[in-house]
Amino acid sequence: MPSAHITFDQTGDKIAGRIRKMRPSAVRNLFAAAVRPDIISLSGGMPDVSLLPASAVRKATRAAVEDERAVALQYGGTDGRLETRQVVCGLMRDLGVRCKPDEVMLTTGAQSALDLIAKTFIDPGDIILAEGPTYLGALQAFSAYEPDVRCIPFDDEGMRMNLLEAELERIGKDNPRLKFCYVIPNFQNPGGVTMVPERRKRLLELSREYGFLVVEDDPYGRLRYDGGHMIPLKALDSRVIYLGTISKVFAPGLRTGWIVAPRDVLARINLAKQGTDLCGSSFDQIVVEHYFTDTPWEKTLQKFLDVYRERRDAMLGALDEFFPPEATWTHPDGGLFVWVTLPDYVDTGSMLGAALDAGVTYVPGDSFFPDGVTGRNCMRINFSYETPENIIEAVRRLAKVIEERLELYRIFIAAGAIKAPDGAEASEHSPSRANSDGFAPDGQPA
Ligand SMILES: Cc1ncc(COP(=O)(O)O)c(C=O)c1O
Repeated sequence: MPSAHITFDQTGDKIAGRIRKMRPSAVRNLFAAAVRPDIISLSGGMPDVSLLPASAVRKATRAAVEDERAVALQYGGTDGRLETRQVVCGLMRDLGVRCKPDEVMLTTGAQSALDLIAKTFIDPGDIILAEGPTYLGALQAFSAYEPDVRCIPFDDEGMRMNLLEAELERIGKDNPRLKFCYVIPNFQNPGGVTMVPERRKRLLELSREYGFLVVEDDPYGRLRYDGGHMIPLKALDSRVIYLGTISKVFAPGLRTGWIVAPRDVLARINLAKQGTDLCGSSFDQIVVEHYFTDTPWEKTLQKFLDVYRERRDAMLGALDEFFPPEATWTHPDGGLFVWVTLPDYVDTGSMLGAALDAGVTYVPGDSFFPDGVTGRNCMRINFSYETPENIIEAVRRLAKVIEERLELYRIFIAAGAIKAPDGAEASEHSPSRANSDGFAPDGQPA
């Protein structure tokens, strides 16, 4: 008699097709490697929570443990605590967005907001527009619902509106399959670029003209090291679905994010959320609420900014000093990431083993495209987590690995074993097809 007990290995034919097609997150896989003491990690997206003052964390946590224990340990409403949503309204007001608590839903980080939005809007085959490359966690969240994700390249002013328009013309006006455009306008992950105001306005005009929703994901907007504040899309158009999080300005371990959306949209997302988790963590929400009301969090944020600015400068300086001339990279005004582009013939996925041997990690660029192929010659490197000294050393190690790869390719190309790709010579300093900001002439991140 076959056993009713099914082990993991025996479940193969029971697994849903959509899960079978999903790819594991390169970042999550690299987590394990990154804890090795000999490795300097440039692969994460982690803030440096050691910068948080113990007194502020203690104060915020004490409120949940002592003053509001009965509520903190209990189930809460699906939309989240009213008091915490009021705090979120205050945070949104600082950014120029006016909203009421009933236009806010608290989520288990912005990541679960992405999943809820996908669950609410995407039927298999629906078209989703996104920057390419884009946040790999969004691609993962969307992919479970089997959409057709079309990537629109960006340049150093954000998503390229002429290429978006060309794609929209192919899709057609009011196409019921076209659901939303997902954008990270500030210090994009992984690109580090910011969408300029004219393009923000144009995106909203196109959303009205072609009939699609705009999902604005903004975890990094407050992490600005140079230049002025950019008005969120949500402040320009109330139909925008805005995603926020405390992960990069407070603590990702508290898993608290939010959606700001019109009430009718939130009512649908609420239905989706009931099946997902009934409600978020009341405990975490109370801690968040007290952190942003009872502690000098803006002073702490300033400390984050000062430290990250120094780390970003260390990374950009080290890239200038150590990286070969064939490499190009973005120059972010904020956020956590630099996007590096190498010549077409370099595969950063296959180079990762050599980088690990050299004691450094990064995220291969193909992780940030839905086809898992585009971006193979690129990588994302993070500057928030390691000290400036470690960042400089990591970039030096990485430069050596890249240089060895390039040397190998030069030998292959000179021997005629492989064809020189467009623009690549077998010379020592073959020109990259990208310009100084890491973009090819057609705007495709090279
Ligand atoms: C663009 C983007 N969206 C969402 C998230 C998820 O954030 P959270 O920690 O709030 O789930 C991240 C995390 O790195 C991110 O970079």
